[in-house]
This record gives sequence, structure tokens and C-alpha cells, in this order.
Amino acid sequence: MTVTEKIGQMCQVNRDSGNLLQAVKAGRVGSVVNEVDVDKINHLQRLAVEESRLGIPLLTGRDVIHGFKTIFPIPLGQAASWNPSVVSEGARIAALEAAGAGINWTFAPMIDISRDPRWGRIAETLGEDPYLCKTLAVAMLDGFQGDDLAKPGAIAACAKHFAAYGASESGRDYNTVSVPEIELRNVYLPPFKAIADAGVATFMSSFSELNGIPATASEFLLTQVLRTEWQFNGLLVSDWESIPQLSIHGLTSSDKEAAAEAFNAGIDMEMASSAYAGHLETLLREGKISEADIDAKVRHILRLKFQLGLFENAYTDTADFPAVANAQHLDAARHAAVQSCVLLKNDNRLLPLAPDQANTIAVIGPLADDAQEQMGTWVFDGDSQYCQTPLQAIRKLCANTSITFSKALDYSRSKSRDGFDDALRIAHAADIVILFMGEEAILSGEAHCRANIDLPGIQQELIHEIAALGKPLVLVIMAGRPLTIGSIIDQVDAVLYAWHPGTMGGPAIADLLFGVEVPSGKLPVTFPKLVGQVPIYYAQKNTGKPAGPDTYVHIDDIAVNAPQTSFGMSSMHLDAGFAPLFPFGFGLSYTEFAYENIRTNSNQVTMGSTIQIQAEITNIGTFTAEEVVQLYIRDVVASVTRPTRELKGYKKVTLEPGQSKTVRFDIHTDELAFHNRNMELSAEPGLFHAWIGSDSTADLKTEFTLSD
Ligand code: NOJ
Repeated sequence: MTVTEKIGQMCQVNRDSGNLLQAVKAGRVGSVVNEVDVDKINHLQRLAVEESRLGIPLLTGRDVIHGFKTIFPIPLGQAASWNPSVVSEGARIAALEAAGAGINWTFAPMIDISRDPRWGRIAETLGEDPYLCKTLAVAMLDGFQGDDLAKPGAIAACAKHFAAYGASESGRDYNTVSVPEIELRNVYLPPFKAIADAGVATFMSSFSELNGIPATASEFLLTQVLRTEWQFNGLLVSDWESIPQLSIHGLTSSDKEAAAEAFNAGIDMEMASSAYAGHLETLLREGKISEADIDAKVRHILRLKFQLGLFENAYTDTADFPAVANAQHLDAARHAAVQSCVLLKNDNRLLPLAPDQANTIAVIGPLADDAQEQMGTWVFDGDSQYCQTPLQAIRKLCANTSITFSKALDYSRSKSRDGFDDALRIAHAADIVILFMGEEAILSGEAHCRANIDLPGIQQELIHEIAALGKPLVLVIMAGRPLTIGSIIDQVDAVLYAWHPGTMGGPAIADLLFGVEVPSGKLPVTFPKLVGQVPIYYAQKNTGKPAGPDTYVHIDDIAVNAPQTSFGMSSMHLDAGFAPLFPFGFGLSYTEFAYENIRTNSNQVTMGSTIQIQAEITNIGTFTAEEVVQLYIRDVVASVTRPTRELKGYKKVTLEPGQSKTVRFDIHTDELAFHNRNMELSAEPGLFHAWIGSDSTADLKTEFTLSD
């Protein structure tokens, strides 16, 4: 290969770029991004394979994030399923549909830990917790890549955004990230390490800076951690134009310098921009980069093309693939949405409703019948023609009930009261009211951050007015993030949090509301009462003055002209307390589960061995249901402070009424390891607490000691 041809492999070019066809023929393109027309992709591959000098096929990249044509719940919703097989199946179907369009590389999974619901991209994440994220990330990887990338229907996955993008200051996208190395290694990196170990084909660098160095130029992240420590030998791509952006960050003063920085930090392929195409040859001549490094990068790229089997066959024959959005795919999407919805409130067991319980049900709200919005963010290829909305599904399920409908608001942000009268009229005439509120898809996702995370527009006003009618009131929320719903939650009887549930969100929600299915989703992220509590997450440190019910003083309980006093003096907000609205791991069912008899097989575990921690779970209600049994541990005293709780295991089990199961977690002491103040990964001897229960506040507790 000539140097020009090698550099060509390192360039990923957007489908709209001028002269794309000539550039492919000339061997100046290694990958095309965003082309989804199979005929055009086959044409591009033909130019690459048959008309370029070396005949090297193309990587064809696309954001296939939570489905291609069949849209699954947003990743944050999928994480609420706490069900790796659901996540894996969604990715497998997404890969199959995308591969049928000629795509061989997706930029997913996005495995940034995020503890800030203001950040629009929290929708794309798998939540706040490293353990939940890494287990689901590996499941998603398995769905995309399968066991052999060369098999039809497998596509290369991409772990993004490396690293710590989810910690963007104030939840503002692309913003500065300052994360101490110890927190980086204990919280933000573990999902990336797990997916690298599991064989992810590619990584993408983050747009953001980390501790003063933009990730795309971070030799520490991209070479020291990723290549040297983790021995990752796959392909590392920049984010969209993140190389020239190094100059906007203020790290470099030209595209040429930016290309040198990114190259020497470790980026193999440049996405969308052309700093590599324009400057690498000159940089090589000037001795600022080495040809050995070029070769290493090209090797990463070519190896992936070999692994994908592109040298044997670069073309896609749609006849080899099942139809998109076929019945089986839609059923998997429905199941995923069922598993993702979280029941947050159900006073007086209002839910499930019986399909013939009421003469009239009023369905109200801007998201009850909006096929586009229920798909959620980042669905370039999602097709709303396949969507079934909640209104359609409720009408189908309750054929003998009169279903009245009012949108009330044209869209979630609307400030027009024009539709209120109609909504109040049908609510007044109904026996039961089901509200569909939340956020439109466009309010979350990249660059779509919010400083106020209440229900947008005047939805809260509408809820107040409908609640005043005194009808049984169910609120279904579709949103790309946790919303602060503290001010309206007392006004409704039941709340089902559906995230953006995707193509089959309608039937999934209807099946849950009417008891065809039983909710089993659990929050993958903490729900704050007020945005001022953010960041709030369950794995917080204890501090020297932890808050508790005994120390909490409410702002309204402080005397007027109060003298300086020491009451309280604990880590809380006077106006919000110290607890969230809903904790991580929380989610109700139509049944109830009793947890008892937590125990370990020994009160001691020695380094390098495994301890068994188990408890009995009994379904004490009347519905067969699934429960996510969760194990949390605390390392009580360590050489660096450790979180008050950390998720270390979970299992989703099905229990019939009256049935008990023993759920056992086998915890190897490696699972108790953390990075210490010298950044060494090790477990430390001492006392551990363990809890098993249905959310992160579980109180069924045992303890054990780890010894050398
Ligand atoms: C920018 C986003 O940050 C990244 O996640 C995405 O994969 C690329 N654009 C390509 O669309």
C-alpha cells in the first residue's frame, strides 16, 4: 500500500460529501458513514472492490442505536428491563435489519455512565450504575456482533464515548468533564473495560475533554488505558469532526496540529472531517508522526474488514434477510417495551384495569397517539408507519368500552390552553382517565439538554385541572430522561414510566395497564425530587456527616430569625432532604414480594475465592410476576472511601402467587476490588455489608469478612 492508500483507509467520509465516488475509486476512503440505501452501498462497495487499485472493501457505519426500522425502547428504557436477554435480542434484530441495508458497523452501544438527567444523552445510556451498564453492554454487544462477525446479520459494535462524556458539567452536552482518575477508573471505565474484554470491535472517542485534555487527543485514555493496559487491538474512531474540534477546544491551532495530536494519541480513523486526509502525509514527511504508527492503525482497520468477511463478499443481497419490522421483530419490540416500563405508583391497586371495568375511559394527552414521538431520540431510520400507539392499542384491547380521546395539547411543550376544555369535558364524562404526558423525542438526545426537567409546557396545569375532577387517574409518562414529577405525583393514582418505548410502545403499555402483562421494570437511574439535587445517585459516599431522618430539618421548620445553630449539620438540602423521589432499582409490580432469610455460606471469604449470598423471595400477591432481585454490598472501611452501596448482582426471576425461590449470588472477591489511591485494582480485607432486595434501599442485610 502507498502511504496515500494507507491514509485513505483512515478516513471515514459522510455519504453527502462531494466527490465520494471518485474518492472511493482512488482508494482515499476506508469507511462511509450514514449511507443506508442498499443499492448505493453496493455501488460504493463495487467501486472500492472492483475499481480501486487495491480492492479494499468499505466499512459502512451508521447510528443503529435502539433499532433500525423496528424501534426498541431507548437504551435507558432497555436498561430498565434489567434483562440482558431482552437487550441482546433488540440488538440482534437491529443488526439484522441494518445488515440487510448494507450496514456493517453501528456506533453503539453507548455506555457512558450518567448521573445527570439534565443531559439529553442520558436517554442513550444504560443508566447510572457501572455494574448494570456493563452487564447490559455486553449483552448488547452479543446481539450486534454475535459470535462471529462474518456471519450474515452480525455487525461491528462500537463502545462509545471514551470516556466520561456522561459527566459533562451541569448536564450540558459537550461540556467540560472533570473526573478524578480514581473515580474514572472505579465508575466510568468499568463498562468500557468489560466490553473490550468481551470483544467489541471498535471504540469511539468522546467529544468532551477530560481533566483538561480533549478525549480525542488523550494519550492517557486512548493509548495508555485502552491499548497498553487493556490490550485492545480493535479500531478506534474519532467522533464526528472531533479532530478539528481540538482547535476549538483550544488545544491546537490548526487542523494539521489537531491531526498530529489525535494521531499520536491513538485515533485510527477520522469521522466526517478531513484533518487526516489533508495533513497526515505532510506530518509524516516532517517526522511528526511515524509510518510504523500509520501501519498499526491501518492494521486495526483492515483486521476488522477481514473479520467482517468483507474481502470474501462486500455486497448485500436483501433477499438474504427477513423483511424489516416483521411480526417476529415487532413482537420482540413489544416484549422489550413491556419489560422496560416501570410502575412508580399504584394507589389502591387501581392498576391493572379490567378491559370491561368502565363504560367510558378518557385517554388524554399529546403522547397518546403520536407514532413519531414514542420512538424516542436517535432513530434516523425508524419508520413511524410501523408504530402502534397507546390509543390504538387501548381501543383494540377494550373493544366493549367507549374510549374517548383528547390530545389536550398539540405537543408536550405547547403552552396553549385551547384543548383544555375538550380534555376536561371528556374526563368529566369518563369513569377512568388515562393521561399520556412527558417529553417529545426531540427534547432528549444529543445536544438536547434541559435545565428544568419538569414536564414541559403546561402539562402540570392540565394534570391539576383534571385531578380536580376526582376521577381515578392514571398517568403514563413517555420521556427520554427522569423527569421531576414530585409536584404532580400526589394528584394521580398511578404512574407508569414508559420512557420512549419504541415502535410497539402502544400495545406494550395497553397490555400493562390492563393486566395482560405485569410490570417488572426497575429504574436504572435515580429520580430526583428537584433538579437541584442533581447529581443524585444511589452509590453515593457516606461523607463525614451523613443525613438521615433524625438529622433532617425541613426549611419550613426553621424558626424565623433563627440564631446560628447546629441542628441538622448533615449532608442534605433544607428544601429537598437527602433522598430522591424514587431510588435506583425501584419499580412496583401488581403483586408483592417478600424477602427473607438473607445468608452467606460462610461469614468469611478468603482472597481469590467466592462467597455465596442468598435470600428467599416469595410472591405474596395474586399475580404471576417477574421480580428483579438485587444484591448490593458495602466495603465498610477501606484505604479510600467507598460508596455506601454498590450493585454487585441481579437476577430477574418469575414467581407464581405463593411461590418462593432462593436466589443465590456467587461473588468472587475480584468483584469486590476497586482502584485504590495508587490506581491499583485490588480488594481489601475487612468487613462487608450485603443487602438483597427489590431496590437500592433494601434493608435485608447480612455481613461477611474478607481475609487475605
Ligand atoms: C456524534 C455522536 O456523538 C456519536 O454518538 C455518533 O455516533 C456520531 N455523531 C455519528 O452520528
